[in-house]
Amino acid sequence: MNRSYFATVAKGLEEIAAQELEKIGAHQVRATALGVHFQGDQSLLYKVNLWSRLVFKVLMPIFEVECATTQQLYLQIRKLDWSEFLSWQQSFAVQCTGSNPNLNHTHFTALQIKNAIVDQQKDRHGKRSNIDSKSPDLLINAHIDRNICTISLDSSRESLHRRGYHLAMGPAPLKETLAAGIIEISGFDGKVGLYDPFCGSGTLPIEAASLALNIAPGLSRMSFGFESWLDFQPELWQRLKKEASESRSKTLECPITGSDIDAGILQQARSNARLCKLDREIEFQRKALADIEPNANSGILVCNPPYGKRLGEAKDLQILYQQLGDVLKQRFKGWNAYVLTGNRELSKMIGLRSASRLTLYNGSIPCVLLKYELY
Ligand SMILES: C[S@@+](CC[C@H](N)C(=O)[O-])C[C@H]1O[C@@H](n2cnc3c(N)ncnc32)[C@H](O)[C@@H]1O
Repeated sequence: MNRSYFATVAKGLEEIAAQELEKIGAHQVRATALGVHFQGDQSLLYKVNLWSRLVFKVLMPIFEVECATTQQLYLQIRKLDWSEFLSWQQSFAVQCTGSNPNLNHTHFTALQIKNAIVDQQKDRHGKRSNIDSKSPDLLINAHIDRNICTISLDSSRESLHRRGYHLAMGPAPLKETLAAGIIEISGFDGKVGLYDPFCGSGTLPIEAASLALNIAPGLSRMSFGFESWLDFQPELWQRLKKEASESRSKTLECPITGSDIDAGILQQARSNARLCKLDREIEFQRKALADIEPNANSGILVCNPPYGKRLGEAKDLQILYQQLGDVLKQRFKGWNAYVLTGNRELSKMIGLRSASRLTLYNGSIPCVLLKYELY
């Protein structure tokens, strides 16, 4: 049976996430602000959780109720039949987003929904579910948009950007989903070299290697929300995971290299790569930008150089961005470079004409991804 789903994604990645979902097999795919609507069966739901590199969470809308007031929300939620999705033996939690004039505190709204559900359970069974905000059997997502509350089940539970490898983090790591989005936008497919000269904890090279080797990003996760749903199909899930682990390619066709000036952060990058069994595939080198050399005749350079917030850093960073422009022009002929920065003024110091620019969000920070074609 096909159902409707909503995948939440970072601002700026909606269109590219829609393309990814189509490749995974989703139907009726439609990108919207901060997410993508799509349809598919249960197998697709599991596959998206297992294979998506760009999506944060996959929500399955189950009810829509009117919620002009707190009382109306409570009564509507209490009237719904929850038994198809939740038994009193299971724990649950409610997370809420959005607001209207009468429901403008998400914690309070979530509490009303929780109360309505447990009150119904007590009426029907004399027993009620426990609330577990850390690791609930069922994570319920409520979204308030004006007078409508959409109730969904969160099939991912913990955000999918937490692949399980980022145990060691530098001071400014990219989210795995944003790094994967940049790799996807760059068109990298593993058939040319890839170089990140500011690799920090290694997120861009790791996501690139994972894509090139066709590794399902969800395979390294401990658990997903749908595994404790009442309709969970363990055989189907085991089969999809087995297919995914068999589809991993053995070796990279072209080199993937990350370098950074900071020896400590490179240790983190190496240990992250080891966690995803990519430490033999990715080469990490301690190098200042001034000393880097391309690892192939042509390829894709991706990076997010520091863009500093403290006063006094500005001058050094201007020199660094100028140097980046020089290194790209002089040593990376035949390559395409993608530079993500949160500081447009600094990006001008690169001194090269960009072929395209795209606004992406690194958390709440608006950034620009600049593409340079280097002849
Ligand atoms: C914004 S962080 C990159 C974060 C990385 N993408 C990640 O996901 O962890 C910028 C990195 O540039 C490095 N860096 C700063 N100056 C450098 C230089 N001159 N040469 C090489 N690396 C430099 C820093 O050590 C830092 O790790």
